[in-house]
Amino acid sequence: MPNQLSETPDRLADQESTQSATGTEKKSVFIKTYGCQMNVYDSDRMADVLAPAGYAETLDPATADLVILNTCHIREKAAEKVYSELGRLRALKEERERHGGSMTIGVAGCVAQAEGEEMVRRAPIVDLVVGPQSYHRLPDLLKRTGNGSRGIVETDFPVEDKFDALPALDKKKTIARGRTAFLTVQEGCDKFCAFCVVPYTRGAEFSRPVANVIQEAKDLVAGGVREITLLGQNVNAYHGEGSGGKDWSLGRLIYALAEIDGIDRLRYTTSHPRDMDDELIRAHREVDVLMPYLHLPVQSGSNNILTAMNRQHDAASYLRLIERIREARPDIALSSDFIVGFPGETDQDFEDTLSLVGEVGYAQAYSFKYSPRPGTPAAGETVQVEEAVKAERLARLQDKLNIDQAAFNKSCEGRTMSVLLDRRGKKDGQLVGRSPYLQSVHVDAPDAAFGHFAEVTIDKGFANSLSATLISTHRDQGANQT
Ligand code: SAH
Ligand code: SF4
Ligand code: F3S
Repeated sequence: MPNQLSETPDRLADQESTQSATGTEKKSVFIKTYGCQMNVYDSDRMADVLAPAGYAETLDPATADLVILNTCHIREKAAEKVYSELGRLRALKEERERHGGSMTIGVAGCVAQAEGEEMVRRAPIVDLVVGPQSYHRLPDLLKRTGNGSRGIVETDFPVEDKFDALPALDKKKTIARGRTAFLTVQEGCDKFCAFCVVPYTRGAEFSRPVANVIQEAKDLVAGGVREITLLGQNVNAYHGEGSGGKDWSLGRLIYALAEIDGIDRLRYTTSHPRDMDDELIRAHREVDVLMPYLHLPVQSGSNNILTAMNRQHDAASYLRLIERIREARPDIALSSDFIVGFPGETDQDFEDTLSLVGEVGYAQAYSFKYSPRPGTPAAGETVQVEEAVKAERLARLQDKLNIDQAAFNKSCEGRTMSVLLDRRGKKDGQLVGRSPYLQSVHVDAPDAAFGHFAEVTIDKGFANSLSATLISTHRDQGANQT
């Protein structure tokens, strides 16, 4: 789940809010999001920060006054995409300037953080570079570009400031964004896996205080949201300040959120095996609204490689953990991330990964060829695996994972499930929603069911989705969708 790349602006702010409350001049912003769900959340929050400064969201970069690329640095390909996009934007910007107009180009997110000044040198059309912890400063930074400054770089790490400075959620915008929402509760990472840029691009681990999280969850519910996914680069390392000044774990936070009237589904991602504590596992047994799905990346099944990766767990402890989670919630669907071709990975190490996959039986998974990232310890290793070997291992691993995924989907056939129908299908009369286990489910249903939960019977499990027959819909008392 953390790697479902989101490269299209899949949400648009309420179009009526083109006139700012302060009467500022109307302008438009186009935000393109790359990378993980945390960036999707951040893009929405950037739009929220920009609205009072007079910016309404648009889907058309060609007419936008401001274009922001919210970028990802996790693999080389992800980072390079940004430069291709900047090439395309350069043509648009020049065209606008030829006609006497202007376009401000900003780069946000993890490439912005990692490259900073370098970005402006490599792509001089960039007016503004803003890191993931500084985007609450966008209105001020834009005032500076408006006054003729170019190449402004803002990559500090004032993480507490950001959440304090972000505006409360706007009810109309929340309604426009639909029934499912992300809520960032934790940011940053102190784990320093040898391959990973996140500790450098997002900074040290930080948890938002419990009261802030609960308030934002209540605001989401007031805006019609019924399913919340709690986000963090290391979400189960959550340790936010709770009542009496004591830190709460993610498990405790989930018990509290489940009490909020109107939250029908809770999920969280991404977790680290080291931080799956007893309370969180117990929540999977006891909290009805906590969905039976867990993304728990293992990366490799070889102890040699796990040690070299600095993952701080071995294959056996991961398998024991899975056993305990399954005892608590026998039907839980499991997911993972894998890296093949980490420096020094031998054929035997790779076989160990295949054998772990065989033991777990994942419902879905994401797998990648190792990509050396500047500044990370593994990038400097002398024994890099050849590209052709990486490609062959990835193909074998993905074949196995696909077979397991198809088997999981098939095992859903004949079952009755609840689905939150929050997307329209490609075919007329078809609505789409997620099963409790996170698969997309396609159902023929009246449009009145859009945005509501439905009971369905799964007819068919395909490679990547399920199809189902509608039994009944539950119209709830949520916010008015019109
Ligand atoms: N916080 C999450 C991971 C975020 S990155 C966690 O701890 O699991 C998402 C995934 O990208 C990682 O799980 C890993 O599988 C993959 N990844 C990270 N760095 C990578 C690299 N240098 N090359 C290839 N894949 C990488
Ligand atoms: Fe990256 Fe490891 Fe932190 Fe996940 S736990 S964000 S893979 S350093
Ligand atoms: Fe990418 Fe940054 Fe997320 S590197 S995966 S956008 S934390």
